[in-house]
Amino acid sequence: MNIFVFETSLEASQYAYDLVAKALESGANTFGLATGSTPEELYSIIRDSDLDFTDAKAVNLDEYYGLPADNDQSYAYFMKKHLFDAKPFAQTHIPDGTATDVEKEIEDYNTILSENPVDLQILGIGSNGHIGFNEPGSPFDSKTRLVDLTDETIQANKRNFESEADVPKKAFSMGIGSILESKQIVLMAFGENKAKAVKETVHGEVTPDVPASVLKNHSNTVILLDKAAASQL
Ligand code: GLP
Repeated sequence: MNIFVFETSLEASQYAYDLVAKALESGANTFGLATGSTPEELYSIIRDSDLDFTDAKAVNLDEYYGLPADNDQSYAYFMKKHLFDAKPFAQTHIPDGTATDVEKEIEDYNTILSENPVDLQILGIGSNGHIGFNEPGSPFDSKTRLVDLTDETIQANKRNFESEADVPKKAFSMGIGSILESKQIVLMAFGENKAKAVKETVHGEVTPDVPASVLKNHSNTVILLDKAAASQL
């Protein structure tokens, strides 16, 4: 994995944008997208750019279980607001948080992923090292599934909800096995609260206890950090 440390998250996001633009220019057609505060600056730069995704496809990592797409905390809502309304894609795919037939939703999402190999995957990282919603202990060959969120993740994400009780306890997540199939992976991490997870990812052993550590097994992964996230390296 190649690691780049920037003065600010904005500079790191600009670098991520350059990678996205280069990939698009070189014919990349399917983009794996992430939610959370980390990619917000990247999406803002893309919104203000002249990049055209009307022939491209987007597949998202995850969605809270139980939240409909029009709930302002759903990842479907986030993607519309931060990217898709301004930059339409030919197709966008996000698991349906309200699916009643969970097994079918999972099977359908795995089919979407196998039919649309991801060219470039954007990733954030949880403070416990999770990628997507693949919490510590997730098998490296996992596919899409319904996962239980850890207490650490619920605590970290409750800032976006009115109260902790409103944070869904489960989510659909693309598996680690699917993430690893992406041709190129761009992981971004910003802020002091990511420093420990970044250190364990970069310097620790490859272990399911730190899901992001598996990226060391991927041949084309770039990690973009601001100074705070890199402070324990
Ligand atoms: C969530 C998402 C992840 C994201 C992580 C970090 O749990 N499922 O995809 O990377 O949180 O979020 P943030 O970027 O807001 O710190």
